Amino acid sequence: MRKQRFTFQYIILAAALLLTSACSTPQPAEKTLKEAFDGKFLMGCAINVDQSSGRDVVADSLIVRHFNSIVAENCMKCEKIHPLENEYFWDDADQFVQFGEKNNMVIIGHCLLWHSQCAPWFFHDEKGNLVSADVLKQRIRDHITTIVTRYKGRVRGWDVVNEAIMDDGTYRDSYFYQILGEEFIPFAFECAHAADPDAELYLNDYSMAKPGKREAYVKLIGQLQEKGLHIDAIGIQAHAGMDYPDMNDMEQTIQAYIGTGIDVMFTELDINALPNVFENGNENAAVEERFEYEQRMNPYVNGMPADSLQVWNSRVQGMFDLALKYHEHFRRVCMWGLCDQQSWLNDWPMPGRTNYPLLFDRNYRLKPVMQKYTMTAH
Ligand code: G3I
Repeated sequence: MRKQRFTFQYIILAAALLLTSACSTPQPAEKTLKEAFDGKFLMGCAINVDQSSGRDVVADSLIVRHFNSIVAENCMKCEKIHPLENEYFWDDADQFVQFGEKNNMVIIGHCLLWHSQCAPWFFHDEKGNLVSADVLKQRIRDHITTIVTRYKGRVRGWDVVNEAIMDDGTYRDSYFYQILGEEFIPFAFECAHAADPDAELYLNDYSMAKPGKREAYVKLIGQLQEKGLHIDAIGIQAHAGMDYPDMNDMEQTIQAYIGTGIDVMFTELDINALPNVFENGNENAAVEERFEYEQRMNPYVNGMPADSLQVWNSRVQGMFDLALKYHEHFRRVCMWGLCDQQSWLNDWPMPGRTNYPLLFDRNYRLKPVMQKYTMTAH
């Protein structure tokens, strides 16, 4: 009985000592994302109108706490901001810019010219025919000048031309290209620079790790530079998956772009956790490509299994490690959304799936994978 009492007292004492030592050893405080990458690159987030308007209060508190840069997920796209030739809709874009200013964030405009989500009036005359090269140039100039001038000195940088090159390196056969040929790209840069000479100007595209696309952009950057046009950086969208892109290809792309003398950014980072629905495995981020829902393509409705999560974690860290390795040339890493339930990848390329592509989960918790950066000095 006496022996038992002694043993019990020793256990209590040992527990008390452990507790005291745990309390007296300073624990590393967990940094926010923007603190973790401070001095290396900006930490960005694409935000939707519920967030910029203040309706999504929980999301907003996380955006303000963890990010120092924002980009408009949708509200600055042509169909939203310039739905008719003589009509601009500013409310959402104004609110987005005010949100960034209120919270001292670097504000990025997305996007001035994009073949997708362009308002239907842009390329056609009143009879429905394609407009002439001169008319399209005038429309492009008006569109870019009006938008960039409105936010002059407030928006730090613009995705001037989005997704102009195909994966094999040929020009996308958009109306911009059909009517103006390659000239539409330098022309857009000229207009944007004239409207705000201090704004940073970018190209932006997906599938950048593919060699054909990489080479085409290296050539295009060179052509813009030869013409003396202003270009600061190129946006690698970085819509990635569990087995693409190959990280060596991605690193080669980063090196090739840095080699042109401009900076690089991951502008729309997310990692699709679900099975690839493209038959040839050639997943991209072309919003126009869509498939019918299939149950077997939606396997993780109740959460990701541990082995898949491990792969997902290593993919995320692979991207951040690359950005850190080249941080002297990396301006920004921007997540394409805050938390999993808000991602476009729940509905693309197949609607109604449960995806896990972002850094915050469905309960607004930062995923443990980021502790590699938030808990340590690197
Ligand atoms: O706001 C309307 C809503 O009123 C309507 O009821 C609903 C019905 O479909 O549509 C809502 O608009 C949707 C919008 O997202 C806002 O949720 C559009 O249909 C839908 O097409 C739109 O998708 C966006 C897509 O671009 C096309 O603009 C995604 O949110 C957005 O994440 C995605 O972002 C693109 C980048 O701009 C460029 N790179 C690829 C990236 C992913 O596709």
